[in-house]
Amino acid sequence: MFYEPQTLLAAAAAARARAYAPYSRFKVGAALLTGEGKIYSGCNIENSAYSLTVCAERVALFQAVAAGERQFVALAVVGGEQEVCFPCGACRQVLVEFAPELEIITGQPGGTVYCRNLKELLPDSFRLKRGACPDER
Ligand code: THU
Repeated sequence: MFYEPQTLLAAAAAARARAYAPYSRFKVGAALLTGEGKIYSGCNIENSAYSLTVCAERVALFQAVAAGERQFVALAVVGGEQEVCFPCGACRQVLVEFAPELEIITGQPGGTVYCRNLKELLPDSFRLKRGACPDER
């Protein structure tokens, strides 16, 4: 599916402005493009109990899944003032559940676009066969 990477990066940058990151002060925005061309966005949301923090990528994905979406084409991430911010390992695992072939782009709006396939970022990923865990008796 054709899409304009700069449009997706701009959506991620807009989401980044809503980040809640008072502890790290590292704001991240993500924008997820569905197979039908809709964009769901997310920002990181931190917590006083640090480990409860949720990354921007997971917020975007969970918003989309909760809205009934199941097909995803690309994800843009804009992090801090860094040129490149690819998803962390935990987010890669969560993304692979729904979109093993997802294109991940990162960069700053108007700048160079860096693109990787999720397969490259998380090779040989862990997946359970559906129904692999029968109920315990
Ligand atoms: N963070 C993200 O939102 N996405 C990433 O891919 C890396 C890290 C957030 C989590 C935390 O709020 C802050 O960035 C610093 O780790």
